[in-house]
Amino acid sequence: MMLGRLLSAFDSRTVRRRDIADFEAGIGDGPTPDAGPIEKLFFGNSGPVVHKWHHYLPVYDHHFAPFREGFRGRPLRFLEIGVYRGGSLAMWRSFFGPEATIFGIDIDPSCAILDGKSGGQVRIGSQDDAGFLRQVVSEMGGVDIVLDDGSHKARHMRRSFDVLFPLLSDGGLYVIEDLQCAYWTKFGGGYQRPGTFIETAKQVIDDMHHWWHGGGTKIAAGGGQVAAMHVYDSIIVLDKDANLSRPVNSRRGGTSASG
Ligand SMILES: C[S@@+](CC[C@H](N)C(=O)[O-])C[C@H]1O[C@@H](n2cnc3c(N)ncnc32)[C@H](O)[C@@H]1O
Repeated sequence: MMLGRLLSAFDSRTVRRRDIADFEAGIGDGPTPDAGPIEKLFFGNSGPVVHKWHHYLPVYDHHFAPFREGFRGRPLRFLEIGVYRGGSLAMWRSFFGPEATIFGIDIDPSCAILDGKSGGQVRIGSQDDAGFLRQVVSEMGGVDIVLDDGSHKARHMRRSFDVLFPLLSDGGLYVIEDLQCAYWTKFGGGYQRPGTFIETAKQVIDDMHHWWHGGGTKIAAGGGQVAAMHVYDSIIVLDKDANLSRPVNSRRGGTSASG
């Protein structure tokens, strides 16, 4: 019996079933005592379904707050990959306000009925279709924040990043969620498996330090324009800076006797 349980724990099909069950289960029951506006909107939602891991909510609140009043003196342009029931687009609309340009894309044609009704414009196509992505960004007039909550497949995440990060505004954010899927075979993932976004993120760290190792930048889309990468459990936020230059240092002061 014991051996049977042990063997079953190592059966890859069992692991896969358990992974998905965990994925659906969610964690926590309600807002934290110091909940920000997005966390409050999520837990107070009685409209169309929005599906988010609870620990993402303070991450959104922290990183999206500076964009709430617009971006560099004009309305924000926000793109979410993965519309589902439209609840997240409605949540972003409530948070960013009526002036923001909010688009969602989804491969599911049934999401088309949400176009203009769920808080944003909805376009139907796949996140791995470069032409489609470029067309959507062109229609938006550019993009300041991308949030990838689409298929969670390794190849798709990377494809979207390769196309969209170069189109992202200087000073914009690229957010990828549900990176636990990068470890799961169903999503093309695996532990330290090349091609997953977790492995891409590790390379981005090397690319951010290209001044110091001489190996150049390997993630072409990043182009040495990742100013910071904020890594949380299963969600990564990349800050874009198109004008990075090699850091400088100096010594200041030194007027005291010991200086
Ligand atoms: C996790 S749901 C999105 C949840 C939604 N953002 C929310 O917070 O409530 C993932 C969505 O991605 C869509 N999707 C799956 N594969 C896709 C692809 N290749 N391109 C675009 N969307 C895709 C699915 O149809 C589904 O609606």
